[in-house]
Amino acid sequence: MSFRIQPSPPARPNRCQLFGPGSRPAIFEKMAASAADVINLDLEDSVSPDDKAQARQNIVAAINDIDWGKKHLSVRINGLDTPFWYRDVVDLLEQAGDRIDQIMIPKVGCAADVYAVDALVTAVEAAKMRQKRIALEVIIETAAGIAHVEEIAASSPRLQAMSLGAADFAASMGMQTTGIGGTQENYYMHREGQKYWSDPWHWVQTAIVAACRTHGVLPVDGPFGDFSDDEGFRAQALRSATLGMVGKWAIHPKQVALANDVFTPTLEAVQEARDILAAMEQARRDGQGAAVYKGRLVDIASMRQAQVIVRQAEMIAG
Ligand code: COA
Ligand code: MG
Repeated sequence: MSFRIQPSPPARPNRCQLFGPGSRPAIFEKMAASAADVINLDLEDSVSPDDKAQARQNIVAAINDIDWGKKHLSVRINGLDTPFWYRDVVDLLEQAGDRIDQIMIPKVGCAADVYAVDALVTAVEAAKMRQKRIALEVIIETAAGIAHVEEIAASSPRLQAMSLGAADFAASMGMQTTGIGGTQENYYMHREGQKYWSDPWHWVQTAIVAACRTHGVLPVDGPFGDFSDDEGFRAQALRSATLGMVGKWAIHPKQVALANDVFTPTLEAVQEARDILAAMEQARRDGQGAAVYKGRLVDIASMRQAQVIVRQAEMIAG
């Protein structure tokens, strides 16, 4: 129990984050025209070392020239273990205009990683007299990242979102899989001749959600690699939404609609939430703390659950 009020995360939709390599400018206009809430132009792992400098220039030009509409525009820089990241930050903030909203830091391992980027961002912003304060987002995708997830969530007032990066996370943890997210063939229980697949991402997702909710940060599910498997994507996204995540990455444009669909509360869910709130309002007028709704108990905790869904729907509706 705590007397502190849990902080609210940024009130902006983050149902889908669409990624595209900074070295492939031909797709930037298509990304801008997509239905994704967030755009992530990538300088990291989808760009080969020889292309980093050109990709920076492509992204600076795209930030300045393309009409990104109302999208939240983010650029993924290189990790702090590379020689590239400082120039990513400096070039972006010295050369790109105010349309860039956010910088994504991959492979964050501790709060000091975020502090280092924050310090550099703060210095360049001041030197260039930039008017808009850049937000940060991070990827939890290493053993150190998950071990220090709470201090990372608390690391900077600039921090708005935290994603799980399943592929690098699996590699860092020594997990025996090459799949990017989703159900894993060898992660099952066995009983009476049947296999029952379990969810190897459950714990790490829940740890991320808890850290994020404690510190007012948006928890996001990362990539699902097999973009020919719509049902697999949908099942993974539904699990993430059920656990409290607000959105999921798309690494191919066909995944955008799938993510938007899962992370937008359905009309039925919103109606049911409103009905529960109405039932509780009636209970309050009757001097009761609990009520019966469709044969089941609803109480003040049900009210808070219903408010999550209604608030999410209202925020998405703008
Ligand atoms: N955003 C917007 N449009 C994209 C796109 C993206 N990320 N990736 C592909 N497209 C476009 C293609 O240009 C093509 O457009 P067209 O119909 O006008 O020709 C259409 O979508 C279909 O593309 P498709 O041929 O199926 O895919 P591809 O072979 O061109 O590219 C990937 C497949 C996976 C290489 C590509 O989607 C990609 O680079 N994804 C992002 C990878 C990334 O950023 N990873 C880092 C985060 S994990
Ligand atoms: Mg990664």
